[in-house]
Amino acid sequence: MPIKITNICCIGAGYVGGPTMSVIAKKCPEITVTVVDINQDRIDQWNDPDLDKLPIYEPGLKEVVRETRGKNLFFSTEVDKAIEKAEIIFISVNTPTKTYGKGKGQAADLKYIELCARNIAKVAKTDKIVVEKSTLPVRTAAAIKNILDHSGNGVNFEILSNPEFLAEGTAINDLLYADRVLIGGEETPAGQEAKDILSSIYEHWLPKDRILQTNVWSSELSKLVANAFLAQRVSSINSISALCEKTDANIEEVARAIGFDSRIGPKFLNASVGFGGSCFQKDILNLVYIARTFGLQEVADYWEQVVILNDYQKRRFADHMITTLYNTVSGKKIVVYGWAFKKDTNDTRESAAIYVVDALLEEKAEIVVYDPQVSEKKIYADLDYLGTRTPEENRRLLTVAKEPIEAAKDSHAVAILTEWDEFKSYDWNYIYSLMLKPAFVFDGRRLLQKSTMDAIGFKYYKIGQK
Ligand code: UDX
Ligand code: UDX
Repeated sequence: MPIKITNICCIGAGYVGGPTMSVIAKKCPEITVTVVDINQDRIDQWNDPDLDKLPIYEPGLKEVVRETRGKNLFFSTEVDKAIEKAEIIFISVNTPTKTYGKGKGQAADLKYIELCARNIAKVAKTDKIVVEKSTLPVRTAAAIKNILDHSGNGVNFEILSNPEFLAEGTAINDLLYADRVLIGGEETPAGQEAKDILSSIYEHWLPKDRILQTNVWSSELSKLVANAFLAQRVSSINSISALCEKTDANIEEVARAIGFDSRIGPKFLNASVGFGGSCFQKDILNLVYIARTFGLQEVADYWEQVVILNDYQKRRFADHMITTLYNTVSGKKIVVYGWAFKKDTNDTRESAAIYVVDALLEEKAEIVVYDPQVSEKKIYADLDYLGTRTPEENRRLLTVAKEPIEAAKDSHAVAILTEWDEFKSYDWNYIYSLMLKPAFVFDGRRLLQKSTMDAIGFKYYKIGQK
């Protein structure tokens, strides 16, 4: 095994690969980091001289890229060349939920991972450490190893699992000040050596006691379980938000009261229109699939309920809007603030906004969307992907606004679906003056003050409060 690391390669220049490698490059100036991707457009965006055109928006990212790009951080489509040169190869390609065949709708589609493994096997001429960074079903490392060992050029591969725990919107901070880094590998002398080598990369900036070493299974499973626990907290508080709306209890007061219990803690207790993002639902469905595969029906059902509750929350929000707007939104202009799945990101994967808007479009509402970071192209692509109606109809019923305030003119309602800070600073008095009366605001993120909004004259609904 190579001890001195001079070259790292990462396959997949996405939300995970891009920021993670940028931080490694920043903290390890003696190592050349090459991020490769088969998508030429994406690589061109990463190489754009205008740092505001990077393919992903992440606070702090452009500063790190400015510091390292062209020095020891490179973005390229020359996958084979980068693989050949590197001692460590990170695989950070996407693993979407399968949309076909066995495990459809639940299992992860591993075709990209397998393609990567086969490619590494074909190209590698020296020993490599292959690191799975993508979230994967448990036992994928074993499958990758199998492919590498049987189709390679006789070189040695050590496979490590090194799941990513960064959250979008705070990725750079999460990487720089990680709670922990998890490295899973085989419990053999070579496996141990590989784990120590990868650990030494992170030790450039993190204390050693925060770098946990485990076996491969524990590492792979821990990633799914961490996301399942986090998502479960959101579904738990969201289930109580529905109860609060039927009673005089206020979800914020309840969350605060339980969060003060140090065993529960205050984080991840914000009631919302529902969790989104590329990971929570996918990882839970994966966990459910694995449990079912092993005949653990009760375990599978238990975790599946977290996703069922989340779907309920999104549907409930849309239904509440329709009921409140006198049971019909047909032909009514409704302005949607926020399309991203959370603030400070341009990522929209599984965003609650997509599903809420889809339900409103089914009722023939006229939707205007404003999001500070999400492009018009992406918004239409998200809706078209659902296939609920034709692309032409999506474009007829929904428009995308570049300017949020004037967009509210002559609208019946505003729905807040992402918690962007800028929404708080809008002149809501002026927005009120532009809207038809009664003017409704449906706050799916608990962003605004109820007393202020009531005083302006709005019919204001805040999730989790009567
Ligand atoms: C993805 C998964 O969603 C997540 O579960 C996992 O933990 C890490 O990988 P992300 O980085 O957000 O996260 O995905 P995405 O932004 O889609 O980036 C993946 C990139 O891999 C894309 O740019 C794609 O073009 C690239 N890719 C995919 C390859 O370069 N080669 C392939 O064979 C397949
Ligand atoms: C998550 C995990 O946090 C991260 O560790 C893992 O690596 C990837 O998946 P991410 O999906 O980027 O990260 O964002 P996160 O901050 O976890 O939020 C997920 C969703 O839950 C968002 O839609 C967010 O709005 C929602 N959420 C979160 C709530 O509705 N309420 C909360 O209290 C917290």
